[in-house]
Amino acid sequence: MDRIRIVGGSKLNGTIPISGAKNAALPLMIAGLLSEETLILDNVPRLADVAQLQRILGNHGVDIMSAGKRPGAQEYQGQTLHISAADIIDTTAPYELVSRMRASFWVIAPLLARMHEAKVSLPGGCAIGTRPVDLLIMALEKLGAEIAIDGGYVIAKAPGGLKGAAIDFPKVTVSGTHVALMAATLAKGTTVITNAACEPEILDVADCLNKMGARVTGAGTPRIVIEGVTKLHGTRHTVLPDRIETGTYAMAVAMTGGDVLLAGARPELLQSALDVLTQAGAVITASNEGIRVARNGAGIQPVTVSTAPFPGFPTDLQAQLMALMACAKGSSHITETIFENRFMHVQELARFGARIHLNGETATIDGIAKLRGAPVMATDLRASVSLVIAGLVAEGETMVNRVYHLDRGFERLEEKLSGCGASIERISD
Ligand code: EPZ
Repeated sequence: MDRIRIVGGSKLNGTIPISGAKNAALPLMIAGLLSEETLILDNVPRLADVAQLQRILGNHGVDIMSAGKRPGAQEYQGQTLHISAADIIDTTAPYELVSRMRASFWVIAPLLARMHEAKVSLPGGCAIGTRPVDLLIMALEKLGAEIAIDGGYVIAKAPGGLKGAAIDFPKVTVSGTHVALMAATLAKGTTVITNAACEPEILDVADCLNKMGARVTGAGTPRIVIEGVTKLHGTRHTVLPDRIETGTYAMAVAMTGGDVLLAGARPELLQSALDVLTQAGAVITASNEGIRVARNGAGIQPVTVSTAPFPGFPTDLQAQLMALMACAKGSSHITETIFENRFMHVQELARFGARIHLNGETATIDGIAKLRGAPVMATDLRASVSLVIAGLVAEGETMVNRVYHLDRGFERLEEKLSGCGASIERISD
């Protein structure tokens, strides 16, 4: 299995192109199942999760053609996928495929909406606590689906098609909102989703669905209204920039010092994280080209942060912030409110010498002057990248083992960082 070797101590200077958002690309690809016509997606990142979803969609009979750069396209504009679900030949998503990536469970929504049946294995994914699907099932049942769980599979049927309904989520859920939104596009009548997730990726998917002929209003707010239509058609859509990749590199620069342009990044997608970074001593400037991040001379200042649904501080940047705070001048407090067990990085950061004390959902980080390189490993994507960030500033050599998780969510990570002066390389065994 590949490893990443980092020798810490170099400042980051230059330009990092920001890729298309993984967490928008995945549901957008799944939305391709809703139409017989071709959905063309531009700016799709080349990631292991995208490749895995291509295999899953292929199993349903979806033809996917992948093309490289378009003439005149900038280097970071990702790949273009042509997704054609003219004939869905199989409505089962098997365990072997779904267990590796949680978002693949979401195929249940378009399969049910269009084919009126689906059999989908209960999901796997990152090890960040129990991640139930009860709210997704609740939403589909409200839309009229009959659901049974048998042998690790969710078996869903809606013989006469789905029917519009009121869906009130008891807690904000990105997955629940994606599933309810996609399913409702082809339901008979009106669906109103309340307490919907407001993440930018939901809005991106809703924009694409509307281009496909859906009638969705209010996406990006807690109340989404969907007037069902009988058919969706093909369209072309560009995946929005990855706000978590943006925030991750912004934290890396805050950590090492230097001056980097995050090209193509959009500040409104991660304002809360940029505010926290500013408080921590980063200098953030937005321009037409993206976001420029530098660090002022005063060193890293401690912060107190709680993760929250959008527009709050994202849970997907919590581990990276913790790595940054490990070097702050004082004590920081980070509370994780979204996932109950998303602290796998704490014990690994400790290998660098970080002083972190966990008390329930809150981590107290007592900053130290110097981290020291170490062999480390993580079992979740964002935790893994927090170890890379720590390695960039740590004295000596860091070896990040099991980079499989990094490849799920960070496109060309070593290339982007080494292009800005980091000493980082992939070692393939
Ligand atoms: C999405 O996961 C993202 N994944 C996650 O990113 C992200 O951390 C998370 O949203 C929160 O922002 C994708 O978009 C592919 P949720 P999702 O449904 O949709 C509970 C990454 O690293 N819940 O909003 O699975 C759940 O346990 C990944 O890119 C239920 O209780 O998250 C959690 O506590 C990791 N029942 C909370 O809701 C349900 O049926 C939020 O989960 C569903 C969720």
